[in-house]
Amino acid sequence: MTQIDFNEEMAAELEVVYGRPDILRRRALVHEALGAAPGERVLDAGCGPGFYVAETLERVGAEGSVVGVDASAPMLAVAAKRCQGHENVDFHEGDVTALPVADADFDRVLSVQVLEYVADIPRALGELFRVLRPGGRVLIWDVDWATVSWHSEDPARMERFLRAWDQHLTDPTLPRTLSPQMRAAGFEDVQMEGHAFATNDLTEDTYAGGLLHLMADYVGTDEAQAEAAEQRDLQARGESYFACIQFCFTGTRPG
Ligand SMILES: C[S@@+](CC[C@H](N)C(=O)[O-])C[C@H]1O[C@@H](n2cnc3c(N)ncnc32)[C@H](O)[C@@H]1O
Repeated sequence: MTQIDFNEEMAAELEVVYGRPDILRRRALVHEALGAAPGERVLDAGCGPGFYVAETLERVGAEGSVVGVDASAPMLAVAAKRCQGHENVDFHEGDVTALPVADADFDRVLSVQVLEYVADIPRALGELFRVLRPGGRVLIWDVDWATVSWHSEDPARMERFLRAWDQHLTDPTLPRTLSPQMRAAGFEDVQMEGHAFATNDLTEDTYAGGLLHLMADYVGTDEAQAEAAEQRDLQARGESYFACIQFCFTGTRPG
């Protein structure tokens, strides 16, 4: 199987999923850990539909500015629409391994659920380091998909479903090795925080509930559709259980 194609259809799907309460909670955690302040210049590397860019514009105010970079033109179109009316925002199509922005130009850089799709992590981290000013802060957020614990009455089928979903990523367990890779890229004061996303009520409002049909469509087999149907049955009977850990890494470019 191949990586997800971040095309127009996916941009429209993420637009809906990213408005759900669990993802709002994740964005609040990211903003708190990033700590963007009025007047600062911030880069969102892999900005997707632009929620972080729009919200960061509110935080940095008219004196600050935000740049969004993404490899997908459809994602950038959604992001640009979201930020219409702001003059202190720019978007560029580009890859996180070759960011189309100047050296040392940003006070803060964030990259949320992007590096797990990237093959050359040292190069991507080198780019995040290059574009930060000395003393600037980086935030990287990724999921360790091996931490997913998801109840099914057919655990072997669930295991196959999850491992098939893993194939939409380059590294489904990137958080395990990210801290030393960040230090090797030159970042100091590297911190990691794990955040549990767990529920016994798998509504569309939850992280997994929102992703379920997207996962089933990606895997694309009858078995995957059967797993999705089982999850809806478990939910109807009040027997759902889902848990996973998402990781927030922060670091500083030495001053
Ligand atoms: C799961 S979405 C996350 C979007 C956004 N960071 C958020 O959390 O709302 C992943 C995004 O990473 C982008 N992406 C994947 N690989 C990339 C790369 N090598 N360089 C830049 N963007 C990339 C995709 O186009 C997509 O918009």
